[in-house]
This record gives sequence, structure tokens and C-alpha cells, in this order.
Amino acid sequence: MRVTPLLAQVTALAMLSGHCVLAECTRESLLSEAAAYITAQTAGKTDGLKMSATNFTYRENNKVVDIKRGVINQPLKIDLNRSTADTVACASYTMLISTSGSKPYVLATQIRHDDNDMSSIAMIDTIAATTGSLFFNAKRTLSLIQQETWTPLEESQRPSRELLKKVGDAYLDMWTDKNAADSIPWGTQCERVEGSQLTKPCGVSLPRGGSAKNNGMRRYVIDEVIGSVDVLCSFDSLGSLPDSHEIRVEDGKVKYVHTVTV
Ligand SMILES: *[C@@H]1O[C@H](CO)[C@@H](O)[C@H](O)[C@H]1NC(C)=O
Ligand SMILES: *[C@@H]1O[C@H](CO)[C@@H](O)[C@H](O)[C@H]1NC(C)=O
Repeated sequence: MRVTPLLAQVTALAMLSGHCVLAECTRESLLSEAAAYITAQTAGKTDGLKMSATNFTYRENNKVVDIKRGVINQPLKIDLNRSTADTVACASYTMLISTSGSKPYVLATQIRHDDNDMSSIAMIDTIAATTGSLFFNAKRTLSLIQQETWTPLEESQRPSRELLKKVGDAYLDMWTDKNAADSIPWGTQCERVEGSQLTKPCGVSLPRGGSAKNNGMRRYVIDEVIGSVDVLCSFDSLGSLPDSHEIRVEDGKVKYVHTVTV
């Protein structure tokens, strides 16, 4: 069969210039960019990342900062990495735990791409917890999270995007809305890891309103395949804390909750 000459030319040009114009936002491409991010963080060098020349933002702990001053420029030995992908938002979420080195870290990072186009990165958005952060103990967090299972769910078991968004929002609304806690489908075997603190089952002793300040600045990465939602936010109910809440839903019920709070 003959290859359409024009298409062949475009593809060749795209490959030559190093900008793949056909960079569609797929699960595979999102996870491969997330892997490039892990490589960059391991080396403390960003040369391997395709930051947009026209629209790139680096945000750390809810503040826009110069990437050269970011934690990403510090080489870290990574003990655990786990990534999820949101093909609708064209974004990924990665959790990294580094227990050794002069400063241990637990990083919660969302990477966003413009206009459903994987050819460049529009934003790296990191919550970087270290010594002094809420319930921080990277070794204990590592030992708890290593025991969890985050494998892809069977197709028939996958929660909808709407349900995941609702659960993520309801969780963050518990501090301001007295009815939010009871709207969440808690699993009986649910485990909550807040920093390094484990609560099991996790659907007990929950906040039921009380704060007047809604948790704001919510950014979502929703992955139906893993059954997870990660929300980066400003935890304003307790005082504008840079925060990540990640939730996994199994059999329609909350199974795991992770929080990373600075
Ligand atoms: C990330 O985790 C996977 C296992 O989940 C492992 O095979 C891989 O080597 C890890 N990557 C890094 C850079 O640590
Ligand atoms: C720039 O990137 C941000 C994400 O970081 C996106 O929300 C925004 O729409 C982009 N702006 C333009 C002009 O592409």
C-alpha cells in the first residue's frame, strides 16, 4: 500500500524538528512524560523536559516560582513513584517519596499540557512536603504506601469521572459542609494516610463543618482506570496550607486516602 506522500512528509518534518505535531494526549504519552519528570527529579536536571516556550508555569507549594529555584533542581534518590493519568484534562499526577539525602521529601506533582497537546508541558505543579510538614515522616509514609495496591481496575469496576470528582470535592468540603462526610461512600477497609499517620477504617471521626473557609484553588487529575482522583488545593479551612488529597475508589467505595500537606 502507498503511504500518502503529504502525510509522510509532515511526519518526517515533525520528527526532524523534534516537535511531534501528532502528539495526542493518551494515557501512554501522559505516563511517559511523568516518567521523564521522575528522571528529571532524580537527576535534579530539567533538560529532558519539554517545557512550553510560550506558556510554562512552575508552581511549588501553591506559589509560582522560578523553576531554577524549585525542588526539581535538587537531585533526589527516589524510593517510591506512582503516577496516574487524566486524558480529558491532559494531565498526570505523580507521587514521589525520597527518604535519604540531606532532606527527605514527599512530592505530589501534577503536570499539565496545553490544548490536549502532549508536545509541550504548560505547568509543573508540586506540593513539596519535607521535615516540618504536617505529620511528616517519609520513611513511615513509604512503609505504609508500599503495602497498598494501585493496579488498574477491571473495566466493569471503574468508577465514573463524575463520581471521582464528587468524592474528591466532598472530601475537601467536610470542613465547611456538615453533610459532606455522609455523602462519601466509605469502604469498610478504607485506609487513610495523612502525611505518615494511618487511620483505619478511614470513615470514622470525620469533620462535620465548622469552618467558614472553603478549601480553594482546586486542581484535579482524575484517572478512571486506576479509580483515583488527586486534588491539589489551598487548604483554607485550616489556614491556607499547600495540600494534595488523593483518593482511590474500589467497588464504588473509598479504599485509600493520601494527604500531603505543607
Ligand atoms: C518507579 O516505580 C517502578 C515500580 O512501580 C519502578 O520499576 C521504577 O524503577 C521506578 N522508577 C524510578 C526512577 O525510581
Ligand atoms: C497556559 O497554561 C495553562 C496551564 O498551565 C492553561 O490553563 C492556559 O489555558 C494556557 N494558556 C494559553 C494561552 O494557552
